[in-house]
Amino acid sequence: MNKKDLYLDYAASSPLHPEVLRYMTSLYEKNLGNPASIHRSGVMAAVELEKSRNAIAKKLNCSSEEVYFTSGATESNNLALRGLAQSHLLGSRKEILISSIEHSSVKQTAQDLEENFGFKVLTIPVLPSGLINIEELKKMLGQRVLVVSIIHANNEIGSIQNLKEIGLLCKAHGILFHSDGAQAFCKTPVDVTDMNLDLYSISSHKIHGPRGIGAIYIKSGLRVQPQNIGGGQESSMRSGTVPVELISGMSAASELYTSLSLSKLESLKEHFIKILNQKIPDAIIYGTTKSSLPNIINFAVPELLGKTALHLLDQRGIRISVGSACHSGKKNPSHVLKAIGLNDKEAYEALRVSWGVQTQVSDLDYFIEQLLLVRDLPA
Ligand SMILES: Cc1ncc(COP(=O)(O)O)c(C=O)c1O
Repeated sequence: MNKKDLYLDYAASSPLHPEVLRYMTSLYEKNLGNPASIHRSGVMAAVELEKSRNAIAKKLNCSSEEVYFTSGATESNNLALRGLAQSHLLGSRKEILISSIEHSSVKQTAQDLEENFGFKVLTIPVLPSGLINIEELKKMLGQRVLVVSIIHANNEIGSIQNLKEIGLLCKAHGILFHSDGAQAFCKTPVDVTDMNLDLYSISSHKIHGPRGIGAIYIKSGLRVQPQNIGGGQESSMRSGTVPVELISGMSAASELYTSLSLSKLESLKEHFIKILNQKIPDAIIYGTTKSSLPNIINFAVPELLGKTALHLLDQRGIRISVGSACHSGKKNPSHVLKAIGLNDKEAYEALRVSWGVQTQVSDLDYFIEQLLLVRDLPA
């Protein structure tokens, strides 16, 4: 059997970029120490830490005091929603609005706040494109809403929301606005100030940085109850010894996304859509491809079950996904695909292919070639 090692699951996690690894290794070799220590090693670590904080703040267009490092977007999303809810327990705003295509770290957190903290969670529908139904959202906004949380770019279908438009609506109603930017950060512009965002979550391992590190932007002056209590690191917003090397890795990774690498991802997307349409004309692409990430396509080949294709391709050295990585072990169909109007059968047939800066056009050609072989295997 023809076998080429091909990883096309960058949305689940992207490989550490060699330049990032080199930079992180150089830091580990320096033995920076704890940035809270006041001796020379500590001061060196603190200088490095603040350099990275400034770099991330610049990417988000906020001040560096508004950036707090966490273990990843799951923790950032938890901190955003729990922290807000717990510091507004006595207020009259008791509704939390989330979109129907949120990552489980927002969905489950909101659900927990409903079950255990007396909040009511309402779900904002999306259109078949995967974009928020703005007219429905407008009807839901009002005095009872504490926060609106909307995923910036979806992890399964890649749809990118118009955060500026939504931010203005939230602002007009005095509602706080959070977005999960785990997939979007560096791959589509974000400007927390221009978009009227109060909180924004990011993750390092989606941008070729190390796993286990992320950050959250929290607008200055916002009341957010810290969820990690201890040594008072990160201005007491998130206690725990600060992993400077991981943070610098994330910051270095974010610098890889130049306009050149983004246009490479865009041209890979154009090429993928073109060859998919040419070679498998009955394939169906889900969600918009206009307002969408340059590195994720969700599609189906009719009558080919997603999981069957995934396993057969895996045997041939190709790794893709049938939905989010967190969902892949579950039996029920993806809530994202259901939300954009697919029935169960269609949702079970969907495949997610995602690539990164190291992917080549020939890799995508090879993928389609192998997918055709897999489709035409005798049952
Ligand atoms: C949209 C989205 N939000 C949150 C997360 C969780 O991020 P992390 O792995 O950094 O906790 C992911 C990654 O799986 C994601 O795709």
